[in-house]
Amino acid sequence: MNLKQTAGERAAEFVENGMTIGLGTGSTVYWTIRQIGLQIEKGLQIRAVPTSEATARLAAELNIPLIDFASTAKLDLTIDGADEINPAFDLIKGGGGALLREKLVAAASKKLIIVADESKLVADLGAFPLPIEVVKFAWETTARRLEEIGLKSVLRKKENEVFVTDNGNYILDCGGGKIVEPATLHQQIKLLTGVVETGIFPAMADMLIIASENGVRIMEKSGAEKIRGENK
Ligand code: A5P
Repeated sequence: MNLKQTAGERAAEFVENGMTIGLGTGSTVYWTIRQIGLQIEKGLQIRAVPTSEATARLAAELNIPLIDFASTAKLDLTIDGADEINPAFDLIKGGGGALLREKLVAAASKKLIIVADESKLVADLGAFPLPIEVVKFAWETTARRLEEIGLKSVLRKKENEVFVTDNGNYILDCGGGKIVEPATLHQQIKLLTGVVETGIFPAMADMLIIASENGVRIMEKSGAEKIRGENK
């Protein structure tokens, strides 16, 4: 069973006629986008904002109408994947390098649905290296600033070339270990000159659609808020 496909396709059920939606990036939401394409063939009418050039190309192939993000005040819904999800619905994203546009689009959405297989559920964030988008200029200085706050990083490469984001920036992947306070760490990193955005999405998900061999679980944020309250 392809769990990413199961989770991804299920999320398409939440897309309703007339909605303006954000389309995430990655191999799980790929299946959502394909499913939306099939629904469009059957008459579904929506407008979409892509979170990467790759997703824009896929959506265009599937005849999903795309609109300019800048002209859109509020999106009804965004569906996206994640690299790690903790019980409080904090996320690490950016494994595919699209974190900046993903966060911009998610932040403008009334609802963010995250699709994933169960391997993405973790007790604490941090086993997955935290992606941080930084400006190219003097990226080494930014890497040193990160090291000063305890984050050792490596410059992301793809096929031996330095990886450049859709926004013309670099990605530093940071291995700092267990992230106890995701929102605090996110704020701390954002204050560093040279940092554009972090891959921590603090409590940004509203719903999780998680596929496992036992079936699909749909979790609402209200449950996560309860956990957050209990941990205070
Ligand atoms: C893209 O930059 C990421 O944030 C993806 O959404 C994330 O890496 C999940 O990707 P997969 O669905 O391919 O695992």
